[in-house]
Amino acid sequence: MTVRLPDDPELAEEAAGLRSAYVHVPFCRRRCPYCDFAVVVDGDPGVDAGTEAYVDAVVAEIGMEAPGFGPLDAVAFGGGTPTFLRVDDLARILSALDRGFGLRPDAEVSIEANPEDWSDELGAGLVAAGFDRITFGVQSFREETLAFLGRLHDPEQAAGAVAGARWAGFRSVGVDLVYGTPGESIEAWQASVERALDLGVDHLSAYALTVERGTALSRAVAAGALPAPDPDLQADAFAVVDRACLAAGLRRYEVSNWARPGHHSRYNLSTWGGGEYVAFGVGAHDHRGGVRSRNVRRLDRYLAEIAAGRRPRAGSERIEGRLRELETTIVGLRRAAGVALEGLAATLVDHPEGRRLVEAGILAVRRGRVVVVDPMRTDAAARAVLSLSEADC
Ligand SMILES: C[S@@+](CC[C@H](N)C(=O)[O-])C[C@H]1O[C@@H](n2cnc3c(N)ncnc32)[C@H](O)[C@@H]1O
Ligand code: SF4
Repeated sequence: MTVRLPDDPELAEEAAGLRSAYVHVPFCRRRCPYCDFAVVVDGDPGVDAGTEAYVDAVVAEIGMEAPGFGPLDAVAFGGGTPTFLRVDDLARILSALDRGFGLRPDAEVSIEANPEDWSDELGAGLVAAGFDRITFGVQSFREETLAFLGRLHDPEQAAGAVAGARWAGFRSVGVDLVYGTPGESIEAWQASVERALDLGVDHLSAYALTVERGTALSRAVAAGALPAPDPDLQADAFAVVDRACLAAGLRRYEVSNWARPGHHSRYNLSTWGGGEYVAFGVGAHDHRGGVRSRNVRRLDRYLAEIAAGRRPRAGSERIEGRLRELETTIVGLRRAAGVALEGLAATLVDHPEGRRLVEAGILAVRRGRVVVVDPMRTDAAARAVLSLSEADC
């Protein structure tokens, strides 16, 4: 079997034709100060119903999906904290997906895990249930950064979890790290990245810490109690992780993602390419038949809608024509493989704004594709695509 490189343009295009499913597990032990994902903690409306009630509701929602989708090439459990659920409950949801859509024999089945939840028993249970890919939300291997981010694990727990997952038999083991945390030096960041790579991870996601509206972090920054992340330091941090990954044999295939050959996330590649996916659970978004729908973010409302026999939708929009092209171009430019030189991408490089980006060394045309060559300036390329499209309307 040929091992595909994560930044292979053909792979990126083929992934758009894959069919996937996403399951959102909203429970968290506590709310991290920087997080604005759809999560619930003790005391939030609906939490008292318990995790079993949630699993029942997700299984019921899977049964409500219109027939004709599948078989699935990739399944992703994300959160929140999927490992907040018992393995039996995760397996129950996975079986419901298999019954509803069918899982291809080589389907990628991935789960996000928090290091503090790890045990050898959990790992063995997940592998036995059919999970073949695990990503730990490590964020950092530095104590002070973990404390700043309000995390519940320490660096040794994270290292033990990664080693344990390898031992348990996952095909791909990855970690998420965050850079630009106020107070963290570039040397400390480099040490964190090297620790992750020394553990032999197959996949690494590194995200620039973002101050999201409505979070405790944004309130502290607005009040002047904490500094905002420094964009220059974040650019240096990106260069550090990009270099270190390349030296360790992991290639960047998206602005925030690096993988060994054959270890890219099939689920992510397919969603970035505009592929179709069904999604279940609180706050989940799907994309099927040219329509994107999103579920309600409140757990109590989600449970009530399911109990009433209704799909717990908060809204939906048709993604077709120019809007679809706009989205796939903007998201596609985040990938190392870029986008084919046609349609909006071709218009972009012919336009004065696009030419300016090419002259500035931000954008380039390589082997019939438009690629962003300075990944830290991806937003500038996205803005140019957007302005072009607006001028068009
Ligand atoms: C929503 S979390 C879910 C996984 C898991 N609960 C955890 O916390 O590790 C997925 C990833 O998003 C990233 N993330 C969440 N909020 C972020 C923020 N404000 N800025 C940058 N990255 C963030 C973290 O790296 C995290 O691992
Ligand atoms: S970062 Fe992860 S653990 Fe923290 S609140 Fe968000 S989803 Fe939960």
